[in-house]
Amino acid sequence: MITGKENKANIISAIPGKNAKKIVARDNKVLATTTKLAPVTVKNAKGAVFEDVDGNVFLDFTSGVGVVNTGHCHPLVVKAVQKQAAEVMHFAGTDFYYDVQVSLAEKINDIIPINDKVKIYFGNSGTEAVEAAIKLVRWSTKRKLFLSFMGAFHGRTMGSLSLTASKSLHQKNYFPSMPGVFHVPYPNPYRNPFGIDGYEDPQALTNATLDFMEYMFEKYVPPEEVGAIFFESVQGEGGYIVPPKDFAQKLKKMTEEHGILLVDDEIQAGFGRTGKMFAIQHWNTEPDIVTIAKGMGSGMPIGACVFRAKYDFDTDGAHSTTFGGNLVACAASLATINVIEKEHLLDNAVKMGSHLGKRLGEFKETYQQIGDARGVGLMQATEFVYGGKKPAKDLRDKIIKNAYRKGLLILPCGISAIRYIPPLIINREQLDHGLDILEGAIRESL
Ligand SMILES: Cc1ncc(COP(=O)(O)O)c(C=O)c1O
Repeated sequence: MITGKENKANIISAIPGKNAKKIVARDNKVLATTTKLAPVTVKNAKGAVFEDVDGNVFLDFTSGVGVVNTGHCHPLVVKAVQKQAAEVMHFAGTDFYYDVQVSLAEKINDIIPINDKVKIYFGNSGTEAVEAAIKLVRWSTKRKLFLSFMGAFHGRTMGSLSLTASKSLHQKNYFPSMPGVFHVPYPNPYRNPFGIDGYEDPQALTNATLDFMEYMFEKYVPPEEVGAIFFESVQGEGGYIVPPKDFAQKLKKMTEEHGILLVDDEIQAGFGRTGKMFAIQHWNTEPDIVTIAKGMGSGMPIGACVFRAKYDFDTDGAHSTTFGGNLVACAASLATINVIEKEHLLDNAVKMGSHLGKRLGEFKETYQQIGDARGVGLMQATEFVYGGKKPAKDLRDKIIKNAYRKGLLILPCGISAIRYIPPLIINREQLDHGLDILEGAIRESL
């Protein structure tokens, strides 16, 4: 049984081991095919460490896909969940009133980077937060069109899916999704359709991207019919891409000129992941709507659409959901924000993130197959390439496999990148040990 204080992985069987194999075989028979990455079968988890059903101990550099920012089973979050579950688990916050839901909304009001009166719609996931934003924009602006970025990931339900553009497999067989969405290039400094090296000339990349949008407005997308543009302040599933510093501000200015709302999707980058509570705070930009989920509840399912109060639905029944803002999830979320603040997790994300960035940068210098190392705070990635910038997807997949066999769990992103997103409570020894395993896995895979 792990304590959460382990600084080292301990692999004592093949992965999957005997017990894991049985669960994987049973799973294959009864669960829908989704996005399984590895035959890793978790039994218990604490902090940045987890143990599988065969007694293997791993370091977790995935945080349950960007969810457990406070670490697995943080004692204060567990306590809040247990207390709330024993009092009342569900009653229907849509139709009646809960103190804990209001308290959470008030707290989010304090931390959200909008300098205005805001209101909150609670759902249960990221995609629901995005669906709420889509409906809110149509309801309040009466504009029907949306812009979104290539490489974006905003969810997989039909509305959010129409904004998503990070892998064509996500769309395959599902067209037509919601009509009226137009995609524009994300200002990716490493790879972009304008042929600009965005590291050498970030301003040119920003300007080319915005000029492209204006060109679209000129040619075929009437800007006065565009309700909102959805934007990830650091693009997540698309490859952990950091836009030029001035991009968000200039984008906001452009949206204001056309009366378009800026929706900042912080579902992956929010709740301290980048070393600020919300990633857009790195860019000193105020959005109109923010979508949040993942790290919000430390593992309890909760998401929300936070918006300037003037855009509220204003009519009972215009939008609602049975489980949104469930009491136990709200209690977990309040405890999560408390832990992030009281335990100075933003500072730790900056400190550990800087060390992570330094070591990934060194790997890039050492291994020519790492074409790019990038990210902010504890949201970082390396992109694997063959000669020039040819994506080395097979190499990336091999490294991930070799890493979990040695006790480090990591996830892909983009076409050929690996993302590194350990819980924000990670310590230096755990981080270094994980990175040593990673380097071993890279060497073994070349
Ligand atoms: C930026 C972003 N938006 C939306 C979503 C969708 O969230 P969910 O999987 O909770 O529906 C994700 C999920 O990865 C995401 O990263």
